[in-house]
Amino acid sequence: AITNRFYTYERVQDIVSFIQNIVPTKPEIAIICGSGLGGLAELITDKIVIPYVDIPHFPRSTVVGHRSNLVFGVLNGLYVVCMQGRFHPYEGYTTATCAFPVRVMRMLGAHTLIVTCAAGGVNKGYSVGDIMLIKDHLNFPNLAGNNPLIGHNDERFGPRFPPVGHAYDRQYLSKMKQIASKHSVELREGVYCGLGGPCYETIAEINMLRLLGGDAVGMSTVHEVTLAAHCGFRTLGLALITNKCLWDYDTTYEPVHEDVIRISELKANELQQLIYDFIGSVKQN
Ligand code: 6GU
Repeated sequence: AITNRFYTYERVQDIVSFIQNIVPTKPEIAIICGSGLGGLAELITDKIVIPYVDIPHFPRSTVVGHRSNLVFGVLNGLYVVCMQGRFHPYEGYTTATCAFPVRVMRMLGAHTLIVTCAAGGVNKGYSVGDIMLIKDHLNFPNLAGNNPLIGHNDERFGPRFPPVGHAYDRQYLSKMKQIASKHSVELREGVYCGLGGPCYETIAEINMLRLLGGDAVGMSTVHEVTLAAHCGFRTLGLALITNKCLWDYDTTYEPVHEDVIRISELKANELQQLIYDFIGSVKQN
């Protein structure tokens, strides 16, 4: 079957026109908020909130801890568009459907994408509450033939064979490290493993991920960043380590979604401050 046929260029254009009839300003920064991290949108001023249900052809976020709004406004002096709630393959959406709002935000005019997510710590040196800059990812669905770009390629979005080796912008990585050190926040920097979920991982799977160079694991982000690289976004990725992973058979702890949400909300302010300052530094460019 040829996938990727629904969100055609023309359909994305229609959605963009619908939004532009409501929002007069052009966003520069696109933000996707992870589990429990939607509070960032509360910092936005001159807000225009469009619930996903009101946008033609938009999916719904069905996960506890995710709201379902596109929020427009000003954050530290720049126009932003913020996805308060994202879509995951485990909700039953294809990776292409999950990620298509990235194209909407790009077509609205955004050039910079900030993605945040909750993740499990694979690296044994990581602690709950750590913030990890995503320097690269292992995209397991992509490797298994479930890439959001499979199917017809419309060159107006991007090239048939897009490079993704610089999907996470190097300048943004160093910029964020500077900002963190100014705030005396210790950042981790590592490789995010994107898996399909909704199960958390087995002990053997976590040990495999570590062996392969993974530092954190989650169920989002990678398909979005794939589409973002395709359509020319410069991307910054931040993962909040909300729980430890199972490493050995003596461990009794098991990750649960309530912990993920609780830790996210606990650390959200710190993450938000970093993002706020990052946007300020993009402004100066
Ligand atoms: Cl431990 N695994 C996955 N796949 N996603 C997560 C997680 C773990 N913790 C938060 N999100």
